[in-house]
Amino acid sequence: MQNSQQNAPLLNAVDLKKYYPVKQGMFSKPKEVKAVDGVSFTLERGKTLAIVGESGCGKSTLGRMLTMIERPTEGELFYNGQNFLVNDSETEKLRRKKIQIVFQNPYASLNPRKKVGSILEEPLLINTDLTASQRKAKVLEMMGKVGLKPEFYDRYPHMFSGGQRQRIAIARGLMLDPDIVVADEPVSALDVSVRAQVLNLMMDLQQDFGLSYVFISHDLSVVEHIADEVMVMYLGRCVEQGETKQIFNNPQHPYTQALLSATPRLNSTQRRERIKLTGELPSPLNPPKGCAFHARCHKATERCSQERPTLKSYPDGTKIACFMVE
Ligand SMILES: Nc1ncnc2c1ncn2[C@@H]1O[C@H](COP(=O)(O)OP(=O)(O)O)[C@@H](O)[C@H]1O
Ligand SMILES: [Mg+2]
Repeated sequence: MQNSQQNAPLLNAVDLKKYYPVKQGMFSKPKEVKAVDGVSFTLERGKTLAIVGESGCGKSTLGRMLTMIERPTEGELFYNGQNFLVNDSETEKLRRKKIQIVFQNPYASLNPRKKVGSILEEPLLINTDLTASQRKAKVLEMMGKVGLKPEFYDRYPHMFSGGQRQRIAIARGLMLDPDIVVADEPVSALDVSVRAQVLNLMMDLQQDFGLSYVFISHDLSVVEHIADEVMVMYLGRCVEQGETKQIFNNPQHPYTQALLSATPRLNSTQRRERIKLTGELPSPLNPPKGCAFHARCHKATERCSQERPTLKSYPDGTKIACFMVE
């Protein structure tokens, strides 16, 4: 690629922001919801970055910006060092192929009037010059890869369980050979009994295709085995980011500690003191002064209610935004 840089990460997000204007009343001035307020990360080929945090903290908004379903209000996005936010047809084409999204709800994301075969064929029809028989061959091959029987080709989505529908949605996401898949709570709507199957499938596919994942989840327990790195978000910002092991074994930010203490773990050797997270996520329409987490924090001091801690990098590679850690 002409503009790409040799050592650039596969995906590089720089200070992404998404502000939504909202009207509250007829006469009041429109305000802004800062859904995502300055998020940065890099993602390497074949790796998984998990984005975790409570509902409403901006995870899906971030996912929509990465896949360009929505343009960021501010910030930059680079793919292989190439500016991904440029509005020309070449870049647009590249975006459509290289980065795909899988949504939480496989009941809503599949067109009920189309058969599985044509759902999977559609991206090829729109974006490639393959012939009908080549498309069908590719669809059947992908169905095999995600564990769907060939006879499902002519069936409708409603004939399938949630887990199988999510396999269809994942297969659709992979039809154009993307490098990056943004998976927005891909197992949250599924029965606990099939979650592990879908997660294992995703890990197998990652190996097979050399995929990178941005894996969004409100539930930390889901990401421990799939993620290389974890970013914890609170009210539109990153509060802690680091290697998965580090985050699970030695969480530093009081919010990460609280989230983790509420997360059941299978093979944990350590007993964790349970930290109760009281109160609710504040509204991004009226973010609190100081650290957004201070009102719910068991370690907060006067300073935390006045001043906002910035995200600082530490020698072990983690990034944390907390005065108590500094
Ligand atoms: N289109 C929109 N217009 C206004 N506010 C929005 C819009 N989309 C999301 N929000 C707000 O942005 C915040 C983050 O939402 P979202 O990204 O869906 O969080 P999450 O996926 O972590 O639950 C929420 O407060 C939500 O209400
Ligand atoms: Mg969401």
